[in-house]
Amino acid sequence: MQQTLSFIGGGNMARSLIGGLIARGADTIRITVADPVPAALESLHRQFGVRVTTNNDEAVRDAEVVVLAVKPQEMRTVATGLGTIVAASRPLLVSVAAGIRASDIQRWCSGLPVIRCMPNRPALQGCGMTGLYATANVSAQQRKIAFDLMSAVGAAVWLEQETQLDAVTAVSGSGPAYFFLLIEMLEQTGMALGLPAEVSRQLAVETAYGAGRMARESAESATVLREQVTSKGGTTAAALQTLEDRNVRAIFAEAIAAAARRSAQLADEFGA
Ligand SMILES: NC(=O)c1ccc[n+]([C@@H]2O[C@H](COP(=O)([O-])OP(=O)(O)OC[C@H]3O[C@@H](n4cnc5c(N)ncnc54)[C@H](OP(=O)(O)O)[C@@H]3O)[C@@H](O)[C@H]2O)c1
Repeated sequence: MQQTLSFIGGGNMARSLIGGLIARGADTIRITVADPVPAALESLHRQFGVRVTTNNDEAVRDAEVVVLAVKPQEMRTVATGLGTIVAASRPLLVSVAAGIRASDIQRWCSGLPVIRCMPNRPALQGCGMTGLYATANVSAQQRKIAFDLMSAVGAAVWLEQETQLDAVTAVSGSGPAYFFLLIEMLEQTGMALGLPAEVSRQLAVETAYGAGRMARESAESATVLREQVTSKGGTTAAALQTLEDRNVRAIFAEAIAAAARRSAQLADEFGA
């Protein structure tokens, strides 16, 4: 990345993005991080050699790209605080905050171009999934900058409408928790069926990893992969039939729709 880039908020997400960018050859001299906690800044400077400051205005003054990486509840204060200075320098604003609408950030920051990203927790391990949405005044070059930024911590995909980010939040944002629940249930049931705890945990975790890799690396759909591992009259068929009889699909559909509704509600609350 050739542009001067500033992060407002030097927490977990900023650290992962900076680590990912530097691993991809970004020039540390072009990266500045602002955060109120000097110890957090010192640690970022020591680890990555980036420039650091406790002053948000100073961080954004010469930045071509400003990444807003503070908690959603802090976003309005931070964005309105930057309002005057970014109105003059007109950087691209990239927000990674869950549930803050691009239109609200534009309202707080003089209608600047905004890209709203919805990453998930595995981004902190470099294997995240991010949905991105750009306001109409974002250029093709700015879209590429944000896409490259989020690709430094995993996969990324564009959405055409901002409301689709509620579905992204429900599927991939909250998604890791659904898989953790499944791992938890496999682990507990394995133990109930007589397996030692450590063995049961390993079976559950490695199976989740193996299934994830198969789904990722295969050209086949999940439906076909599931059918391929389900022999008629076999053990997997017995388990899946039990799940279908209990309406597991309807339960998951309802749960994921509830997450999407909650995402829209949170955006209303934070933006109000
Ligand atoms: N972590 C994830 O898995 C994840 C996933 C998806 C999306 N996100 C989004 O990413 C954003 C950041 O999350 P995170 O996990 O990195 O949170 P975090 O670790 O709490 O980082 C936020 C940082 O911003 C700092 N900060 C607070 N007020 C500030 C201000 N006025 N100016 C500058 N910096 C300020 C905080 O300092 P203090 O510690 O002093 O408050 C903290 O160091 C959130 O909006 C979240 O929704 C995170």
